[in-house]
Amino acid sequence: MNFHIMTLFPEMIMGSLSSSITGRASDKGYISFNAVNIRDYSTDKHHKVDDYTYGGGAGMLMQAQPIYDCYKSIEKDILDKGGKAPRVVYVTPQGSVFNQKMAQELAQEEDLVFLCGHYEGVDERVLEEIVTDYVSIGDYVLTGGELPAMVMIDAISRLVPGVLNNDESAMTESFNNNLLEYPQYSRPEEWMGKKVPAILLSGDHKKVDEWRLEKSIERTKERRPDLYEIWLAENPPKPEKKKRRKKKPVENIESAETVREDSNKEQIEDK
Ligand SMILES: C[S@@+](CC[C@H](N)C(=O)[O-])C[C@H]1O[C@@H](n2cnc3c(N)ncnc32)[C@H](O)[C@@H]1O
Repeated sequence: MNFHIMTLFPEMIMGSLSSSITGRASDKGYISFNAVNIRDYSTDKHHKVDDYTYGGGAGMLMQAQPIYDCYKSIEKDILDKGGKAPRVVYVTPQGSVFNQKMAQELAQEEDLVFLCGHYEGVDERVLEEIVTDYVSIGDYVLTGGELPAMVMIDAISRLVPGVLNNDESAMTESFNNNLLEYPQYSRPEEWMGKKVPAILLSGDHKKVDEWRLEKSIERTKERRPDLYEIWLAENPPKPEKKKRRKKKPVENIESAETVREDSNKEQIEDK
């Protein structure tokens, strides 16, 4: 998967994403990063990329032209290599809030373009022209879009096959099935007087799985009641099996019969 990032600070993006897991994954060719400097596409003799906002107001706005030309150049490269017109994510506090489901969906793309805003944001006209997705990382305002883009790229990358050494770990992590992950322990078996739960040392995989699910549910209910409600709606408790009514013991029937017979007898004798 190829990430193309339109930014005024390419060194910030490359410096961070080329280390650790994303860096190794890019060395191995599972993902690639292409941070493109929007300033390189400015036609201004001073390479200016921002200007005052019409109507007044504090701060500067990123202009449409350099961003548009930057995007067109990225798009051309992708199309020339046989790819399709990519999705373009503008990272903005005004977007839908990013989550694991979005990460899973975006991880299916071959190419993904990110636009990082700065200053007061970006001229609306270029957004209308190129952006397909408006995505936020939370309800707060940062100085620029580089950190949000890196957050999203990191979360998406680890869902690309091959990026994690053990792909299964992404399947059992928090937010899969709307549950948080269960508590985990490593060596030693006892630390500061706290012991690893005995079930995890039992070697009984079925019991371990049951314990983990139980702890995931408990933890989600306590820490993220909003997620727990979604999980519960998708996993309603199984209706309890109806208890079968106990058959009357045979001797009771017999004694009832005897009572009936006796009372019949009495009625005849009375006559
Ligand atoms: C100072 S912010 C602009 C905020 C804008 N004036 C507003 O009120 O919506 C500058 C840039 O940082 C990025 N940014 C800031 N907060 C963000 C967030 N929570 N999620 C994603 N991007 C964000 C966006 O790219 C934005 O264009």
